[in-house]
Amino acid sequence: MSEGFLNKIRDQAIQLIAQGKNEYLAGTTLEAKQGGYDKMKLGCQELVKYARQETNQQLCQIASQKLNEFTTEMQNMKAYLENYKASMQGQSQLQPLQQQQQFSQNPQPSQQKPSNGNNGMNKSTNPQDVQDQGKSKLVEGQQALRNNLSTAIVTEKPNVSWDDVAGLEKAKDSLKEAIITPMRFPELFQGARKPWMGILLYGPPGTGKTFLAKACATECEGTFFSVSSADLISKFVGESERLIKELFNMARESKPTIIFIDEVDSMTGNRESGGGNEASSRVKTQFLVEMQGVGNNNESVLVLGATNLPWSLDPAIRRRFEKRIYIPLPDVQGRLQLLKNKMKSTPNNLTPAEFEDIAKMLEGYSGSDMNTLVRDACFEPLRKTERATHFKQTQTPQGMKYMACSPSDPEGQQMRMYDIKGGQLYLPHIEYDDFLSVLPKCRPSVSQGDLKKYEDWTSEFGQEG
Ligand SMILES: Nc1ncnc2c1ncn2[C@@H]1O[C@H](COP(=O)(O)OP(=O)(O)OP(=O)(O)O)[C@@H](O)[C@H]1O
Ligand SMILES: [Mg+2]
Repeated sequence: MSEGFLNKIRDQAIQLIAQGKNEYLAGTTLEAKQGGYDKMKLGCQELVKYARQETNQQLCQIASQKLNEFTTEMQNMKAYLENYKASMQGQSQLQPLQQQQQFSQNPQPSQQKPSNGNNGMNKSTNPQDVQDQGKSKLVEGQQALRNNLSTAIVTEKPNVSWDDVAGLEKAKDSLKEAIITPMRFPELFQGARKPWMGILLYGPPGTGKTFLAKACATECEGTFFSVSSADLISKFVGESERLIKELFNMARESKPTIIFIDEVDSMTGNRESGGGNEASSRVKTQFLVEMQGVGNNNESVLVLGATNLPWSLDPAIRRRFEKRIYIPLPDVQGRLQLLKNKMKSTPNNLTPAEFEDIAKMLEGYSGSDMNTLVRDACFEPLRKTERATHFKQTQTPQGMKYMACSPSDPEGQQMRMYDIKGGQLYLPHIEYDDFLSVLPKCRPSVSQGDLKKYEDWTSEFGQEG
């Protein structure tokens, strides 16, 4: 096939995709949107034809990259169309987007209780009402954006309680004050006692910022949207801004709402210093506008951000996060609690004094460093058993099993671990020594230099958590 002909196929395919997408976004009826979707699909099929025949590797790669992008978009569109059709037919297994956003501890949609203060779109589960709501809300492209967002927003309760978060008492108190109290007792927050609108959790990696946000999600009574900046940054010009705008619109409709944005620095980095291109600066501006709530009532919408690079935040964004809470490395009490929590469900022979001893030795370790260390220590009994040359039969709660023993043990039989059948091996409990042997190889991941930076930033802009 001639090069010219091939290029023509490609150009036609791209044109078809673009037309289809526009028709889908602009379509105000189901038929119009379906038509746009079908056109896009046809265009993608043509693009595949082109890519199969293109001999230039680089062009072929570009085409398949583009195909990837289009098909991801089309998946969202398809989900939306199916969702919408199902809601029109009164089927409940594919819930309309509005219901998916409702945040409930109860997994059965039919038993969901409307949560306090939720208004507007979440109110009705009657199929006819849902259909009417759907039609009236189907403003140009808006539903498509919401559909995109619905895949990014996590609304399930993560099942992490305040008690699961070790230490960080001050941070927990601040969060309770800022999040839980205004949601439960909104009447107390009047006049100058306004609830906080932006809270930033910052600190070294692995100290529990995301974990703490999960606890907020579990414990709060309102709606909790969790999005990552990666989900809000779209490759299409102007779409990121629209996504951010729509996110805040959705939050306002189902308030009280917490919008949690993890790794917020990647979206709202400094506009002046290397922050980059025009697109990212527009994203930040949109974010500023939404957080400030010009022309919007932002009451009962709280933005909770987390970052380990607080100094790279744009100063204007920094100001929007009125409360900036430092999440430091755990102190000795925090480490002890974390250690005990982790070992709760693992058989061990550690005494309280040994627990304290280990907690003291782990100065400078973050929560996630400790996770790694505990996991490594839990493997030690297995490693010891792998090295053993003698085993003896022992009575265990689960019946007679083989356990490693010393070669001098009179009951010991010479064999290796892999000679024992599955289900017949008994691992010894974890000992203090197991921790000692893994300690030298599990080093802390946060350096003193890093800590100094966080402390300096805290004294300038933050508050101790
Ligand atoms: N204070 C803590 N209490 C209980 N578990 C913790 C604590 N800190 C950290 N962890 C454990 O470490 C893991 C990692 O923590 P998390 O993801 O919250 O860190 P982070 O501060 O968000 O890090 P990053 O800045 O890299 O995103 C958690 O899943 C949790 O198991
Ligand atoms: Mg995190």
